[in-house]
Amino acid sequence: MARFSGKVAIVTGGVSGIGAAITRRLVDEGARVFLADINAAAVTAMSAELGAAVDGRATDITNEADMTALFEAATAAFGGIDIVFNVAGGSRPGAIVDMDLAAWDWNTRLNLYGAFLGTKLGAQHFLAAQKPGSIVNIASLNSQVPMHGGAGYSTAKAGVVMLTRNAALELAGAGIRVNAVSPGLVSTPLTGGLTQLPGVLDAYLERIPAGRPAEPEEIAGVALFLGSDDASYVNGENILVDGAWNTTGYPDLRAALAGLQ
Ligand SMILES: NC(=O)c1ccc[n+]([C@@H]2O[C@H](COP(=O)([O-])OP(=O)(O)OC[C@H]3O[C@@H](n4cnc5c(N)ncnc54)[C@H](O)[C@@H]3O)[C@@H](O)[C@H]2O)c1
Repeated sequence: MARFSGKVAIVTGGVSGIGAAITRRLVDEGARVFLADINAAAVTAMSAELGAAVDGRATDITNEADMTALFEAATAAFGGIDIVFNVAGGSRPGAIVDMDLAAWDWNTRLNLYGAFLGTKLGAQHFLAAQKPGSIVNIASLNSQVPMHGGAGYSTAKAGVVMLTRNAALELAGAGIRVNAVSPGLVSTPLTGGLTQLPGVLDAYLERIPAGRPAEPEEIAGVALFLGSDDASYVNGENILVDGAWNTTGYPDLRAALAGLQ
């Protein structure tokens, strides 16, 4: 039997990049998926492409009324929800000394309010239905690693990880699991423009021992593991999926020391 047979998942940001890879893999493994994305046309197109297993609603994850309507629509469409993947997010860069509160708020709302609302409403749904459930938040390697111009985004993503841990603490007793995935560099529309600039991909690769960015499917595989019963005793965890990026930081002395051996 398929791993997600009979399961229903909400995927925010489910029409592009990592979210789209999660959606497609869930459908391949037997789930029904309710898409939530601000891009209404893409929600309609992906629902049509993937058939009866997929439905969706144009949703702004930063808006509580919109998110409440999303959970109502998903429940009406598929009869209940088992897993919530909070994937939608993004970055608007800016140095701290130049950043006004509007720019700070943009990063916080998209990356932290969205995950908070998805976690809160998912947990409320599971508690009301008196059934176990799983919530997977897509954070970022930037939850651990600062980047120039990335204070707003990185701080919000660090908040997503701590939100995940607090939610696991509060909800584990009710059979609800809340985990996070922290990707390093992934080839998606979010990063495509940046990595095409001269020198940018080479600069990234200096910090990625794997020697390449991840494909969205490689993040989806870990997200689905956390969402599945295979991870039934994993709760409050944050899994880095970064091609060993987070092992770097110490100087690479191999060339300097080669002559001494
Ligand atoms: N690509 C990377 O290298 C990378 C690395 C670490 C973390 N992430 C995180 O992974 C997640 C997905 O990123 P991606 O690279 O797939 O991006 P993407 O740009 O391909 O997809 C993001 C989706 O979110 C949707 N969205 C944006 N604002 C929204 C809103 N207010 N409400 C609802 N939907 C909204 C967009 O329409 C889009 O479909 C994000 O949280 C991102 O921060 C990405």
